[in-house]
Amino acid sequence: MSGSEVLRHRPLWLNLDYDREASPLLARVLEAEADHLVVSMPYRRGRPVPLVPGEQATVRVPYNANPGRYTYEFRARVVQRRFTPVPAATITYPRDLQRVIQAAEPRPCRVLAVASGKGGTGKSTVALNLGLALAMRGRRVALVDADLGTANLGTMMGLQPAATLESVARGERPMSDAMCTLPGGLRLIPGGAGVPDLAGINRWQFGRLLDALRWLEDQSDVVLLDLSAGISRLVTTFIAAADQTLIVTTPEPHSLTGAYGLLSTLDLASGRLVRVLMNQANGPLEAGDAFRRLDAAVRERLDGRLGYLGHIPVDPEVPRAVRRQVAPLLDNPQAPAAQALARLADRVEDPQAVAAVPSERISFVQRLRTVLVR
Ligand SMILES: Nc1ncnc2c1ncn2[C@@H]1O[C@H](COP(=O)(O)OP(=O)(O)O)[C@@H](O)[C@H]1O
Ligand SMILES: [Mg+2]
Repeated sequence: MSGSEVLRHRPLWLNLDYDREASPLLARVLEAEADHLVVSMPYRRGRPVPLVPGEQATVRVPYNANPGRYTYEFRARVVQRRFTPVPAATITYPRDLQRVIQAAEPRPCRVLAVASGKGGTGKSTVALNLGLALAMRGRRVALVDADLGTANLGTMMGLQPAATLESVARGERPMSDAMCTLPGGLRLIPGGAGVPDLAGINRWQFGRLLDALRWLEDQSDVVLLDLSAGISRLVTTFIAAADQTLIVTTPEPHSLTGAYGLLSTLDLASGRLVRVLMNQANGPLEAGDAFRRLDAAVRERLDGRLGYLGHIPVDPEVPRAVRRQVAPLLDNPQAPAAQALARLADRVEDPQAVAAVPSERISFVQRLRTVLVR
């Protein structure tokens, strides 16, 4: 990988000297030249903040899994700005940057399948925000809308893509045409809505799809697949090929039943860990309880084991952000769901990490009551 490729799409946090007190601005690298970086115009709370030539800033670049520990900091000066074809600014940067980051990279690409038994569990929400969270840590992330029946990630982010995964599979467009870059450098490949299943796709088209995914894998650290809900050949094929599987369910019985149904079609004996996320939970206890029930059924009847990835609370910020076509993490990082999504990103970084399953701790007084009532 060339030096400039290492920096391309990478997110940056800028603290302008004149408003040192304000929260840092997020931008990303569009091009890395020998002595300056072309960066996208940063924005704060969804609004662009134009940089002015001559301004000085402290810039931080996350370049590894843990942004707290691996951050490169440097002083920069804004050299130029432009508004077309996209608003951008040119800033100075130290030569060291590429070398430091290159030394800490490259990592093997991991393909993470995000699946669910039923629709509406929050699979696309989770995939999108997980992708954003990983991209903001400096990972090169591609999010593929492989939900070929009801692809909606493009709409969620208000995109009108020139090409989709469907047109790539049909051989009409190259994968590069279908790629949209989102804030933080996350690359999204929107799906199409015309191919409901592998049954509707011929061998040649499936081959095209695989070629395109291989191409994507070559230039990513993580590829996230937002799969269709339920059981289909396309879903089980993708899960079998992925390095990791994340099953999104809610604590509701019909959603758990759906998750169990999907799990029953997978080869759980392969030793690969399938991990479960409880979304839209009313707290850790409800989520832990639901996970324990699912895990017990899988152990008893499928002879498999599940990893627990924790829960994401029901949070009104999520549908609100969807309506405004921004991802919750970006719009309001303090929202409970956004914080839970960031914790999820920590766990996903480690293929073996699981969360403790919280259980109801019965207080002394509660126990006393049951004794007295008896
Ligand atoms: N943690 C959450 N809290 C509140 N609403 C949520 C949460 N997660 C998802 N939703 C909402 O649930 C609906 C379905 O989410 P979506 O991601 O489209 O599901 P799927 O892709 O599984 O069909 C959306 O309206 C979304 O805003
Ligand atoms: Mg979806």
